[in-house]
Amino acid sequence: MRRLSFVVVLLAAAAVALVQAGNQPIRARNGMVVSQNAIASQVGIDALEDGGTAIDAAVATAFALAVTHPTAGNIGGGGFLVHREASGDAIAYDFRELAPAGASATMWFEDDEYSFQRHHMSHLSVGVPGTVAGLYLAWEEHGTLPWRRLVDPAIALARDGFPVTHALAASLERAVQRMSQHPASVAQFSKDGVPYEAGETLVQPDLARTLERIADQGPAGFYAGETARLIADEMRANGGLITEADLANYEAKKREPIRGTYRGYENISMPPPSSGGIVLVQMLNVLEDYDLASFGFRSARTVHLITEVMRRGYADRALHLGDPDFNTDMPIDRLTSKAYAAEQRASIDMARASVSSPTSFTWPAESPETTHFSVVDRDRDPVSLTYTLEFGYGSGIVVPGAGFLLNNEMGDFNAGPDTTNADGLIGTEPNLAAPGKRMLSSMTPTIVARDGQLFMVTGSPGGRTIINTVLHTILNVVDFGMNIQEAVDAPRFHHQWLPDRINYERHGLSPDTTALLESRGHALREVGGQGVAEAILNNAENGLLEAALDGRAADGGAVGTDR
Ligand code: GLY
Repeated sequence: MRRLSFVVVLLAAAAVALVQAGNQPIRARNGMVVSQNAIASQVGIDALEDGGTAIDAAVATAFALAVTHPTAGNIGGGGFLVHREASGDAIAYDFRELAPAGASATMWFEDDEYSFQRHHMSHLSVGVPGTVAGLYLAWEEHGTLPWRRLVDPAIALARDGFPVTHALAASLERAVQRMSQHPASVAQFSKDGVPYEAGETLVQPDLARTLERIADQGPAGFYAGETARLIADEMRANGGLITEADLANYEAKKREPIRGTYRGYENISMPPPSSGGIVLVQMLNVLEDYDLASFGFRSARTVHLITEVMRRGYADRALHLGDPDFNTDMPIDRLTSKAYAAEQRASIDMARASVSSPTSFTWPAESPETTHFSVVDRDRDPVSLTYTLEFGYGSGIVVPGAGFLLNNEMGDFNAGPDTTNADGLIGTEPNLAAPGKRMLSSMTPTIVARDGQLFMVTGSPGGRTIINTVLHTILNVVDFGMNIQEAVDAPRFHHQWLPDRINYERHGLSPDTTALLESRGHALREVGGQGVAEAILNNAENGLLEAALDGRAADGGAVGTDR
């Protein structure tokens, strides 16, 4: 209780720092955390002020988000962390969920019929979680504070509770309706079925006990013993596949980040099993040869060009990418080369939209949930971390007695072999399910450097839109000279090859611009918000860290420290 009060008091004291003044960023000298939950950002800053590294702060923030941002913060899901050291060395931690040993490419078929429900909403949609293993691996290599110190704030928040905001109350009420067939989920997120109201305290005692086991035992507190038994029991009782052996065998992996250059900036991002880094670098390589600033921000010419670049990047994503441990022949070097970018430029007609192949498929809908946070410490070491349960609240299944949500990440595998059709199913080979395989992702945790120094950390939730949201944030700063808050605030648009359509944020394009784009052959649709960019810029001119809080989501927090 004492610890929770401390957090709440600090938040009150930090309130001024959390309020935006126009489109100015939030500034601090010695550390910054920006996430989709202000309490969790403060937990990260506490770790930095206790002498922790950016990895320490990221681990503490991630565990806190698993309590305070249950939509996507998690211990029952998975994700990616990209870290750069002052030396310029960088590493990517892959803690993506994977398919259990009993999985197969046709597991979502019932009587020869593909079942969306089985694929996305059942116990068969749950992948073996990776978050605890990934956070532990990163901490073992780059943490300095004790492991327990990093889990303790989350334990206090789960055990003693935290105040429900208006946004969380509304979100929980909707979620509990969806989870009504899972009594443990209803018990966790409502008061015996009665929705929480803003200002009430959400207490999660089962989650606190699971976090205690993780604090005491490290990954063994999750992948073995009581937690593993509770997960496996829930699976056995409901036709799920994950066993104690699947959990015991889970391994987080270290991967070489994808690197690219853009106008003298170096981009360091997530390699497969995410498509994010490759598609981002590919798109920036193509754009490098155009003077976007002279084309003008959101002019029809600029939107046309970026759309054509997105179209090509997403087509390659679909055709080539999947788990690198199962797809050893992915053409990564070619896709990220400047020579390939030149070939792609040659195929772009500035007067006319290309046509995404009508004989190919339409992408299925993908949830815009997931969450990203960025951290920079006193030494300007950054962490860019995106993790997810896939849908908001994942599968909606809280493990009885363990108090945490299971993901439905198996939905990110393709539907099954030879299923590609005009209704939006995909059957391409690289991303079919197989035992031990990781499903393809769009998460794009990214670090940008310049002249050997940290320049920017960014990332976003948003399903397939993530890569384009990260692209916009980088272009807005590098090409259009925006400060980081302006870059995050600026309206976004998205094209993903198929469906062959530009989705643009409300009021993001003027009617004359959309008319010009239509005359070039583009289809357009106005949509709600796209992503929630969590970005920090290391401003060499004033020596300060500058963070942007993306107003597209409620409850976010950019918290800095001068200590
Ligand atoms: N589940 C969202 C992603 O991995 O991209």
